[in-house]
Amino acid sequence: METPITVVVLAAGLGTRMKSKRAKVLHRAGGQTLVEHVVDTALELTAAERVFVVVGHQADQVRQALDGRGAGFIEQIEQKGTGHALLVGREALAPLEGFLVVLYGDCPLISAATLRRLIDEQAASGAAATVITTLLDDPTGYGRMILDSERNVTAIVEQKAASPDQLAVREINSGMYCFRAELLWRHIGQIRPDNPAREYYLTDVVGLLHRAGHTVRAMRVDNAAEVLGINNRIELAGADRVLRDRKVRELMLEGVTIEKPETVTIDARVRIGPDTVIEAFAQILGGTRIGEGCRVGACSIVQDSDLAGGVEVLPFSMIGASRIEAGARIGPYARLRMGNHVEAGAHIGNFVELKKTHFGAGSKAMHLAYLGDAEIGRGVNVGAGTITCNYDGRKKHQTTVGDGVFIGSNNTLVAPVEIGEGGYTAAGSVITDKVPPGALALGRARQVNKEGWKKKGREG
Ligand code: UD1
Ligand code: CA
Repeated sequence: METPITVVVLAAGLGTRMKSKRAKVLHRAGGQTLVEHVVDTALELTAAERVFVVVGHQADQVRQALDGRGAGFIEQIEQKGTGHALLVGREALAPLEGFLVVLYGDCPLISAATLRRLIDEQAASGAAATVITTLLDDPTGYGRMILDSERNVTAIVEQKAASPDQLAVREINSGMYCFRAELLWRHIGQIRPDNPAREYYLTDVVGLLHRAGHTVRAMRVDNAAEVLGINNRIELAGADRVLRDRKVRELMLEGVTIEKPETVTIDARVRIGPDTVIEAFAQILGGTRIGEGCRVGACSIVQDSDLAGGVEVLPFSMIGASRIEAGARIGPYARLRMGNHVEAGAHIGNFVELKKTHFGAGSKAMHLAYLGDAEIGRGVNVGAGTITCNYDGRKKHQTTVGDGVFIGSNNTLVAPVEIGEGGYTAAGSVITDKVPPGALALGRARQVNKEGWKKKGREG
């Protein structure tokens, strides 16, 4: 039978070196919070019921960030160290059997593949615990691995407690471990806060296991970047770079063309279909889904939106929380603020803003318009300069435009108002009343010409 695996992610600390009011694990890299990255990786190793997150600082926000993933939470009200963080979870973590993988919420770059290797090595060696380590040129701040001649771990010594000899050790503790759960729980209670910080260091359990006659192994990884912790904002920016780079590489291998990939920003959860082209400096954010054969133009920003196949977003456009159907064309310089649904083959042109608008198939609004809280039918032509007056200072009102309507240039549609199917409105109209289907509405003053006005004015 496979050994059951439990994963605990420690995420209760504040992280003083971030100099932030926000808990460290809630800072973002690669488009999500650090703790989300770690938990998503944990979920690749075991069932959600066996993934636990230790929360403390800003516990509610951490829970919220992880909402919907199914992981359990353990509250560590006072943060008395990484060992204490596990101790408070003793009951919640039962049954205390199989392998217990411990991850730190501030190490977002670890891959599931490396953790699987950790578990495999632990299973193969039969050790009491296996610690992921790496070699650093500058190990300052990290716990140092103290190994015997056979690379068995005898202790992990924290920076503050290390002797000059120990400080010279370049192999560091990543803070990621696989323990035989039963042995960990047998010895964890022996950790004492006998260090300057008065903390219960989880790292001390390694020395305790060794002294009790158990073997602890070190699994050294070559790619130090994968195991580095984030302690300040310089390291946060470094992690963001690594995560962005991983994401664009993954997408390119899946058939997405990305021009100047070092300039684009694509969040972790974004999905993009093959043969789509992403131009330089585009940002594709949140839960955006983009279909096959699309194009996202240079400097455009697409957030939490769904783009079906063949959609073209021309440069400098912004699309937020909207749904765009097949073959529609948006931009350049368009803004789809939120809650829009643009149907197949529609065109939204330059300097056009849409908010909570349903824009029917094949309809066009090519220049300089604001359409808010509007229901626009199919095959509609919205003239340049058309504005829906959807707000009276207190409430928002709806504009309804039937199929095949032609709205002349520079129209002001004072909502609530309706233009019936096949209706026409003259250029420059202010439309305040319902236009019947098929009718032409003229809502402007007739032009008056005063013959010879200039000459008379001069002489008088
Ligand atoms: C820790 C390790 C160190 C290792 C380094 C790797 C210990 C004692 N030291 O040091 O050997 O080289 O990580 O990055 O473990 N946390 C809690 N509750 C607490 C304290 C911390 O949940 O009471 C969480 C933090 O939110 C953080 C993680 O544990 O996500 C690590 O804590 P941190 O204070 O950053 O440990 P380091 O000093 O970096
Ligand atoms: Ca740390």
